Amino acid sequence: MEIVIVESLEEAGEIAANRLAETIAENPETVLGLATGSSPLPLYQALRRHVSAGLNMRRVSGFALDEYVGIAASDERSYTATIEREVTGPLGLNPELVHVPEGGASDPQQAADRYELAIKSAGGIDVQILGIGSDGHLGFNEPGSSLASRTRIKTLSQRTREDNARFFATLEEVPRHCITQGLGTIMDARHLLLFAQGTAKAEAIAAALEGPVSSRCPASVIQLHPSATVYVDTSAAARLELADFYKYIYTNKPGWSR
Ligand code: F6R
Repeated sequence: MEIVIVESLEEAGEIAANRLAETIAENPETVLGLATGSSPLPLYQALRRHVSAGLNMRRVSGFALDEYVGIAASDERSYTATIEREVTGPLGLNPELVHVPEGGASDPQQAADRYELAIKSAGGIDVQILGIGSDGHLGFNEPGSSLASRTRIKTLSQRTREDNARFFATLEEVPRHCITQGLGTIMDARHLLLFAQGTAKAEAIAAALEGPVSSRCPASVIQLHPSATVYVDTSAAARLELADFYKYIYTNKPGWSR
């Protein structure tokens, strides 16, 4: 794992966007896994500047991490709508290459199975963009999720529903179920890129990066990935025991590994 402690996620978004733009320039058919929520927004915004400067993302494919079950895809709070608003439109992706789990499918498990197949048919995810829940979830894999799980229907924890209530008029409106890529699905991606900001994430970040690998903190599975980069702002890093060491490593990173 590479753990990068930054002053702000805006700084992280710039650094990560520079790297991702290079990846896409080298392989215009890069397959991205797309998180929604607040954490990846600085990355998506920084990528817009690369697109304005000539980066062509038309052949990039995207697979959203998750989608609510129980609200229509056309609802502005759905992740289908969020991905269209934050990623597909502004970054100029071809909508036909952007996929979101079908939360409204009559048989959600069949839809989840189809999603797994679609990821496989696209050649697998090259770069999976992630946030982390305050309860340690990755995607919507809540505590107790199998570390080997595949895309499936899951129940959102009460804590996640409360965290996400800011996007809804009332807590009651927040869906209770979702379809999410599984932890095994996420781990199959060739590179993981996780963003976290704010003190509300400090406990989850410490458990994920320095605690035992355990379904108690689903994001701890990232420790088993051979190529993962984690960007945390100073507040989210507040409970990392080895914070100074991570800063030392990053500052002294040799040119060949940048
Ligand atoms: C979103 C997702 C979630 C979020 C997490 C953090 O697609 O899968 O795991 O990344 O809940 O959300 P924010 O970034 O809003 O704090």
